Amino acid sequence: MTQPFRLVATVNGKPVDLFVPPNRRLLDVLRDDLGLTGTKEGCGEGECGACTVLLDGRPVNACLVLAGEASGHEITTIEGLSQNGRLHPLQEAFLEAGAVQCGFCTPGMILAAKALLDVNPDPDTEAIRTALSGNLCRCTGYVKIIAAVRLAARKMARGEGAG
Ligand code: FES
Ligand code: FES
Repeated sequence: MTQPFRLVATVNGKPVDLFVPPNRRLLDVLRDDLGLTGTKEGCGEGECGACTVLLDGRPVNACLVLAGEASGHEITTIEGLSQNGRLHPLQEAFLEAGAVQCGFCTPGMILAAKALLDVNPDPDTEAIRTALSGNLCRCTGYVKIIAAVRLAARKMARGEGAG
């Protein structure tokens, strides 16, 4: 019988210590074991970006990461972005810019955008397009999503919102 794997990590700033089957995906740990259902499963094969989370600040597809690979690392999901009841500027901006329709892609989009803004606080359209190129949206046509990221950058420059 395959031995369970001990996953010790930090998820949204909180310590996590649990035993999981060695072939369990990070996506399943987050959604099913930890109840963090903001992370979505679209394709399950690394094509859509709906499952994007941050691993030590870098965007990864949680459907392609085994739980064991995440052990010892810091994981951020969409649930980790608001602080003390205040939305992150990216969350505010997506709402204000009308960049959310069905919302399925939104958590992944926002986390991919956060990874960008953390290293490039004033990205141009091309940089935003590149950063979000692994995140597919069936609804919005991307124009409002790009506008939302630009709006978030302005908000963050003014020190607004959480994060
Ligand atoms: S569900 Fe992971 S990339 Fe589509
Ligand atoms: S808002 Fe529906 S997939 Fe993006």
